[in-house]
Amino acid sequence: MADTSSPSPGAVDAVDWESLRLRAVELMERAYAPYSRFRVGVAGLVDDGRVVSGCNVENAAYGVALCAECGMVSELHASGGGRLTAVFCVGGDGQALMPCGRCRQLLWENGGPECLLMTPEGVLPMSAVLPQAFGAEDLRHAEG
Ligand code: THU
Repeated sequence: MADTSSPSPGAVDAVDWESLRLRAVELMERAYAPYSRFRVGVAGLVDDGRVVSGCNVENAAYGVALCAECGMVSELHASGGGRLTAVFCVGGDGQALMPCGRCRQLLWENGGPECLLMTPEGVLPMSAVLPQAFGAEDLRHAEG
């Protein structure tokens, strides 16, 4: 079985991670997080070269909060679709932040196993970040 736990160095080096991080920081600075005061920004590279981004948007009804990744995925589709190839999510300190479980699922849907994610431990493919992920394939397999 192929080792999917570490990305190929060529794929990692092909991404301008610092540009993605700076874009994510810009978005983090626009977060609307008056309740948690925990600001998040994210930037993602699309397979056609576009960069899409998002910030978290909270609500007085706390559970309605939108994670930064939700905004990014919305921009992905609103601006023409495509697949995410590399993602950098940051917290208020401007450093890599691990996406929550729900957002890992969003990244899986829109980037798949080979999409690269900057983590506090370096770049990892989504296959390592969300092992044994549930995806569209599972819908087909489980048909009765
Ligand atoms: N948050 C995100 O935007 N993305 C994540 O992946 C983790 C959590 C936001 C949601 C909420 O506004 C705040 O961070 C605290 O949980």
